[in-house]
Amino acid sequence: MTIRLGDTAPDFTAKTTEGTIEFHKWLGDGWGILFSHPKDYTPVCTTELGRVANLKGEFEKRNVKTIAISVDPLESHKGWINDINETQSCTMNYPIIADPDRNVATMYGMIHPNALDNLTVRSVFIIGPDKKVKLQLTYPASTGRNFDEILRVIDSLQLTANYQVATPADWKHGDDCVVIPAIKTEDIPAKFPKGFKEIKPYLRMTPQPDL
Ligand code: BEZ
Repeated sequence: MTIRLGDTAPDFTAKTTEGTIEFHKWLGDGWGILFSHPKDYTPVCTTELGRVANLKGEFEKRNVKTIAISVDPLESHKGWINDINETQSCTMNYPIIADPDRNVATMYGMIHPNALDNLTVRSVFIIGPDKKVKLQLTYPASTGRNFDEILRVIDSLQLTANYQVATPADWKHGDDCVVIPAIKTEDIPAKFPKGFKEIKPYLRMTPQPDL
């Protein structure tokens, strides 16, 4: 199944290391990140899961719940968590979905036969409070994800959901933003009292509006 931005994230019931969950209920009213890893007891995955555990405070600040998934069974996940905690100096603090039948992986298009025919690739889905998919990323097994980038994207998504701005290349929290093209230049002062700079008629910059 192909999932596109703006689609409702498919709902499912699954066993996880923190009990059985119904995904949409588990997400509640906040934001969510569902990320897949190819296999338990593998080196890159071990570092990724530890990194997300150590970033818990950053995700909580942004009202984002995280959940991982692989096609390995629950008993495997439970044993592997000990290794993650030991080697990544963390305490696992979010669930890992066990998906041995690949129900969820298939629903989310996480199996890419030309990359890994029976494992999930490194997919990331960011899901908004309306349960719509706001972003998806796909990495090959050989490249661990950059979770600072994922936090940066969440900052942009949360900002642009509430203000009529977009974020330019390499933007990070605190940097100037782009006024969206739909706003006429003459209407900017009323909407952006912090001011704006017109670099070109189509490129108008304004300080981050929520600071
Ligand atoms: C890893 O997590 O290290 C990994 C998993 C599958 C293939 C290659 C690397």
